[in-house]
Amino acid sequence: MLLSDQEIRRFHDEGWLFLPEVFSPEEVAALRQEAEAIYREQRPEIWREKSGAPRTAFAAHTYNEAFRLLGAHPRLIRPVEQIFGERLYMHQFKINAKAAFTGDVWQWHQDYGTWKRDDGMPEPRAMNISVFLDEVMPINGPLMLIPRSQRYGTLDAEHDTATTSYPLWTLDEATVTRLVEEGGIVAPTGKPGGVLMFHGNLVHGSAPNITPYPRKIVYLTLNAVSNYIRTPTRPEWIAHRDFTPIEPVADDALTRYAQRYRQAAE
Ligand code: SIN
Ligand code: MN
Repeated sequence: MLLSDQEIRRFHDEGWLFLPEVFSPEEVAALRQEAEAIYREQRPEIWREKSGAPRTAFAAHTYNEAFRLLGAHPRLIRPVEQIFGERLYMHQFKINAKAAFTGDVWQWHQDYGTWKRDDGMPEPRAMNISVFLDEVMPINGPLMLIPRSQRYGTLDAEHDTATTSYPLWTLDEATVTRLVEEGGIVAPTGKPGGVLMFHGNLVHGSAPNITPYPRKIVYLTLNAVSNYIRTPTRPEWIAHRDFTPIEPVADDALTRYAQRYRQAAE
């Protein structure tokens, strides 16, 4: 899957792009069930909310076959290679749960702010490309983006270690207000299998989920190989040190996995 010239232009202007129905219901069902099984495990890579509910599972592509295939999927790797014009490695991989009733807030932030400050990433030549595992609705804590905010570069941020269980470099209200006056806020919604990609400096966040509907999203953070991190401070399973370029799997690899998975369950 490659992006059209118009999609590439839109990405550069707006800082984000949503592509509906990239993965089939069969592919996503297998991933969703695997994610739920992972959240039931006790592993250091699974970060919990203050309530104990799962918040995010890091690095599942290193220990789970379905997510290994997703982490090297051409429908995700190729579009990001197209934008950066370079091979990519996996900087971070996480499955965010935003659990029903208990999924907590992600305050307004820029991802590159963290990659630069905590990991020593030289340039914003990494980006998130995410896959919706559940339906993302206006009501279950969709990711909110401030269009065009990436043009302001890396903004001042405070290290917030108190609001949630997860430390985050967050923006102040005055900055967010100014950016929103200009760009507004969008919250892309859609069925499982949709793909959302956004620039490393795009300001984003999400509200808590108080509905009975979980909102699982997998985020691959793909970094241009020449932009490898220089001074990591976080654990290897949060900020990876394996800078080997990703070799994409076959386009039907996940479909074949899902078919085997279904047959085994029958
Ligand atoms: C993030 O910004 O890293 C995650 C936000 C979300 O999943 O709502
Ligand atoms: Mn983020």
